[in-house]
Amino acid sequence: MGKGKGFGKVILFNEHFVVYGIPSIVSAIDLKTTAVVEKHTKNQVILDDQRPATKGYKEEKKKHRKESLNRILKKMEKENHPLKITLGGNLVAASGIGASAASCVAIARAINEEFNMELTEEEINAVAFEGEKGYHGSPSGVDNTAATYGGLIWFKKGAPDVMERLKIKTPLGIVMGNTGVVANTKLAVKNVRQKKEKYPCLYEKIFTHAEQVVEHAKEALMSYNLTELGECMNKNHSLLQKIAVSNKNLDFLVQLARETGALGAKLTGGGLGGYMVALTPGSTLQEKVARAITREGFYALKTRIGV
Ligand code: PMV
Repeated sequence: MGKGKGFGKVILFNEHFVVYGIPSIVSAIDLKTTAVVEKHTKNQVILDDQRPATKGYKEEKKKHRKESLNRILKKMEKENHPLKITLGGNLVAASGIGASAASCVAIARAINEEFNMELTEEEINAVAFEGEKGYHGSPSGVDNTAATYGGLIWFKKGAPDVMERLKIKTPLGIVMGNTGVVANTKLAVKNVRQKKEKYPCLYEKIFTHAEQVVEHAKEALMSYNLTELGECMNKNHSLLQKIAVSNKNLDFLVQLARETGALGAKLTGGGLGGYMVALTPGSTLQEKVARAITREGFYALKTRIGV
């Protein structure tokens, strides 16, 4: 029996922009997906998905999940092995929290262990990237990188990708609010591409701005200037609104978090549903923002970045 884990994640800056080589900041969160791989005698691969999940998530992602698993098995040269793969863990599978990447990493690690493949972290990450294609089409690699390595990361897609670990002096409390809507990341990424082709000048300006925001955010993070960091998150959300990946529920939760005292708030992940994130240092503020979100009937997750 082989076992593996992958971290959930929160993109703090520049989802979507990251697809085009603009730097991003991402953090793993302390929730994980686990995978157990066992050889069996029936001539097929069985995937038993026991993860806790947002309503409708598993049904909606079934096709993507199958494609993802086939890609992982092919990349690891295990497509002809009868395997039972069981997914579990405490990460609630939902859009925007890196559920797909966490599962790809967990599966890659479990197969690696079961077959004593001795893959490096870099190779596990490469397998997970391949698996992510089943969900995203052409992923930037930010999600699988966070799910593999954990921690707080500066990530820039390129040849090769740039990954820099960011160390902050004390972990920071955040609240993640779930709209409960299962979003289609593939579609969101495609929409951005089409609009970018249609309005090149406008998008050029927005993308330049996104690059400035993330550079500024990095400085704020490293100097632990939380007011500045929160402002950068707010600016990032405006840019994400401009490229049309936010929606009414996300904007509502972002506004609610800010009014409740969060230092900044934005959507996180592919958008069009899924999660938003609010910067809430200190347990009192974190509790207050989480309670405000819950009171409106949404699910709120309290966690930390930079652990
Ligand atoms: O929706 P999520 O949590 O899988 O995040 C997607 C992030 C994007 O930037 C929109 C896509 C990507 O591949 O980076």
